Amino acid sequence: MHGCRKKTRVLCVMMMLNIFVFILVGVSRNLGQDKGDQQKLRIPSKRFWRKQMTSEIFWNKEQQRLDYIYNPILMSGLTNDSLLELPDWLNDTRSPDPCQPDYSVTTQVKDYNSLPPRFQDFLLHMRCRSYPMIMDQPRVCESKPYLLLAVKSLAPHFDRRQAIRESWGRVGVLANRTVATVFLLGNASAVDHFPNLFGMLSHESRLYGDLLQWDYRDSFFNLTLKEVLFLDWFSQRCSDARFVFKGDDDVFVNTWRILDFLHNLPEIRARDLFIGDVITNAGPHRDKKLKYFIPESVFIGPYPPYAGGGGFLYSGELALQLHNISQQVALYPIDDVYTGMCLQKLGLVPEKHKGFRTFDIDEKYRGNPCAYKSLMLVHSRTPQEMIKIWAWLSDPELNCQ
Ligand SMILES: *[C@@H]1O[C@H](CO)[C@@H](O)[C@H](O)[C@H]1NC(C)=O
Ligand SMILES: *[C@@H]1O[C@H](CO)[C@@H](O)[C@H](O)[C@H]1NC(C)=O
Ligand SMILES: *[C@@H]1O[C@H](CO)[C@@H](O)[C@H](O)[C@H]1NC(C)=O
Ligand SMILES: *[C@@H]1O[C@H](CO)[C@@H](O)[C@H](O)[C@H]1NC(C)=O
Ligand SMILES: *[C@@H]1O[C@H](CO)[C@@H](O)[C@H](O)[C@H]1NC(C)=O
Ligand SMILES: *[C@@H]1O[C@H](CO)[C@@H](O)[C@H](O)[C@H]1NC(C)=O
Repeated sequence: MHGCRKKTRVLCVMMMLNIFVFILVGVSRNLGQDKGDQQKLRIPSKRFWRKQMTSEIFWNKEQQRLDYIYNPILMSGLTNDSLLELPDWLNDTRSPDPCQPDYSVTTQVKDYNSLPPRFQDFLLHMRCRSYPMIMDQPRVCESKPYLLLAVKSLAPHFDRRQAIRESWGRVGVLANRTVATVFLLGNASAVDHFPNLFGMLSHESRLYGDLLQWDYRDSFFNLTLKEVLFLDWFSQRCSDARFVFKGDDDVFVNTWRILDFLHNLPEIRARDLFIGDVITNAGPHRDKKLKYFIPESVFIGPYPPYAGGGGFLYSGELALQLHNISQQVALYPIDDVYTGMCLQKLGLVPEKHKGFRTFDIDEKYRGNPCAYKSLMLVHSRTPQEMIKIWAWLSDPELNCQ
């Protein structure tokens, strides 16, 4: 008797699901047909299957808007937005130019005036994703690199970049694979009291041909811009690269170990590869004093699994997918969390690899050449340490059991 009732309930749920799918398919069919005769389509402003939640939290609300706009069911077959009457909460009365400061945030975010200036700044410019390039290297990927090393740097870090060029980021052929390196820069500008380094950067760029620079303010919260601008660049200039390492300029990377790992990677895993020091079950910090603090009026919810921004390794194919999906994910002030959000939207989970030591190795092993042999990344190392460790690893006499 009991079991029988349970069965009916299961059947009921399944029937409801069927009806639901039927309605969805119906809606998308209708959209397809209406395209021809420009008939105005009314989407009910209240969804009938779930109560409409209009979030008061700024980022979450922006994301809801994007989710709606990019909903494949509602939008399939639609080419003209005016066919769709958007529900009130989606009506965007802001400037159509996303790169104009969005002053509506000053009233939309309830504690805007008491937020730290970096948040006010971030929110005002959050919708803008395109900034002109000041320095490009259109030919850097002509060699069709197997591995592209993309290093997040800051204009004044000349010594770090040089140490990377002379060590783990050396371009050319390594272990019979072509490696290319680019450094990703914003504009370290007068607003942040940087001296004018433009002449020195131009010289460096002429010497090495590996600087990519965009005209935006190079700040911590703008690292997400660095990510999306890099993905843009990659899809235009380097889409043939098989694999990408993206990381900071204060890490040591064992390029030998990475190439060895990739060489032994089964083809089936290579396509969707994304590995690093993966952090799971994290969420926004609410302590105002922390670098990673996020106010409750800006974001609520858990973070998806994400790989620490010190460095991660992924496939070129996945870079192209990330480039596409990133259009559908609102910019978030913490770049590695943002990449995790994009992966989640693709239905992918980054994989933890114990060769990524963003929290360094035990102090007693740091001077031991063999400790680095099986690692892919260690954070942090000075330029001199990078050169020293690279010399250890490149020594054919190095004998580790
Ligand atoms: C969208 O539809 C409106 C009215 O039907 C029309 O005036 C407009 O030109 C269309 N826009 C595009 C991009 O087709
Ligand atoms: C959005 O709001 C503006 C001003 O409140 C109104 O004029 C406009 O018709 C609305 N648009 C839609 C699509 O509802
Ligand atoms: C080097 O790589 C090329 C193609 O990437 C391959 O054809 C060749 O066999 C490799 N040589 C060695 C010694 O592994
Ligand atoms: C970048 O910053 C420099 C130095 O503050 C400034 O002179 C320049 O106008 C900014 N933009 C570009 C495109 O160089
Ligand atoms: C990011 O860069 C843009 C363009 O330079 C700038 O307007 C904005 O203030 C920057 N945002 C932060 C949080 O630094
Ligand atoms: C990215 O989007 C474009 C245009 O929608 C599409 O042609 C392309 O196949 C997509 N690429 C990937 C890797 O998903």
